[in-house]
Amino acid sequence: MTDTRPDPAGAPAHREKPETRPARPYFSSGPCAKPPGWAPEKLAIGSLGRSHRSKLGKARLGHAIELMRDLLRLPDTHRIGIVPGSDTGAFEMAMWTMLGARPVTCLAWESFGEGWVTDAVKQLKLEPQVLRADYGALPDLGAVDWSSDVLFTWNGTTSGVRVPDGDWIAADREGLSFADATSAVFAYDMPWEKIDVATFSWQKVLGGEGGHGVLILGPRAVERLQTYTPPWPLPKIFRLMAKAALNEGVFKGETINTPSMLAVEDAIFALEWAKLIGGAEALLARTEANAAALDRIVAARDWLGHLAADPATRSKTSVCLTVAGADEAMIKTMASLLELEEAAYDIASYRDAPPGLRIWCGATVEAEDIEALGPWLDWAYDQARIQEDNSHPGEGRDP
Ligand SMILES: Cc1ncc(COP(=O)(O)O)c(C=O)c1O
Repeated sequence: MTDTRPDPAGAPAHREKPETRPARPYFSSGPCAKPPGWAPEKLAIGSLGRSHRSKLGKARLGHAIELMRDLLRLPDTHRIGIVPGSDTGAFEMAMWTMLGARPVTCLAWESFGEGWVTDAVKQLKLEPQVLRADYGALPDLGAVDWSSDVLFTWNGTTSGVRVPDGDWIAADREGLSFADATSAVFAYDMPWEKIDVATFSWQKVLGGEGGHGVLILGPRAVERLQTYTPPWPLPKIFRLMAKAALNEGVFKGETINTPSMLAVEDAIFALEWAKLIGGAEALLARTEANAAALDRIVAARDWLGHLAADPATRSKTSVCLTVAGADEAMIKTMASLLELEEAAYDIASYRDAPPGLRIWCGATVEAEDIEALGPWLDWAYDQARIQEDNSHPGEGRDP
């Protein structure tokens, strides 16, 4: 069957396959692309097969912590430690150890923020005030009551909507700010003085491995830990207090339980790469350049759009795109075709999000690979429409 409809982008249907593929078609929003030049044989493996509490093991964990502190431009007021359970583990550790002391507000505008609401309500049996927005939007940040503890995702990975900055966080807040910042750190300039708790995992902007979380605590969060004991039981892997004192070892590399030293060495590789290319500024600039390259692709095609309505709240890492006329099946077809062609891996939107594409623009992705992706998106869109028409002959469909 011949596709005779005009192409909304003005290009011919039955497009030829583009000649140039992205050199590294890794656009997944987590685990994300490895740093350019990464290879398993480049990892330092001296700490493998050794105790993580040996002098060497502790030194490598301490090195990872110091590199993170440096690259995040974290002030001395804030502690940073490696904890179990990837970002989820770190965020739940913060919730379980600190919530319950005062009222709670949860902001939810995509899947992971909703997950923290579920935890607060169903597991901790709290009654948070929940400020919600649909995919693509932010709740009213001006409506947040800062006498409560406030939980939010800095960058909503599944909707591509982020908070624009930290200006909406009250400087004189009585409650604590809890930021799930897993797809935000190393990509945005974080106003640490406004953040009492932040969590992330190495698998996002650093292109590291999952498994371990990173927990950042400001002085007010530490004070909460030291003055408040939650009424519920705490599993050992959540315990940050020992004998009525903060377990300071966690922030020096004395992990609560056994970490994967392979994952640690992998993170060190990424952090050293980041330092080598110019540190925090270089990471932010690479992310900006990638997001701008993708934005140019979107602007040139009327069938592609941003799910995040307001450019000021549009993610620069997990960029979520709408595709005109596409349902879940068509997105699946596009994503599968691109994977088969090794042109793009893992770019279908998250399972709970509206059907669309999600393209990671974090620092480990190269801008020229994003640029090379544009013609492949055109090709996949054409192919998917033709396949849809063939499977529903005679049915009209809006473009
Ligand atoms: C905002 C956000 N929170 C939490 C998670 C869960 O992270 P992890 O699998 O590292 O625990 C993700 C993963 O994509 C995320 O994007």
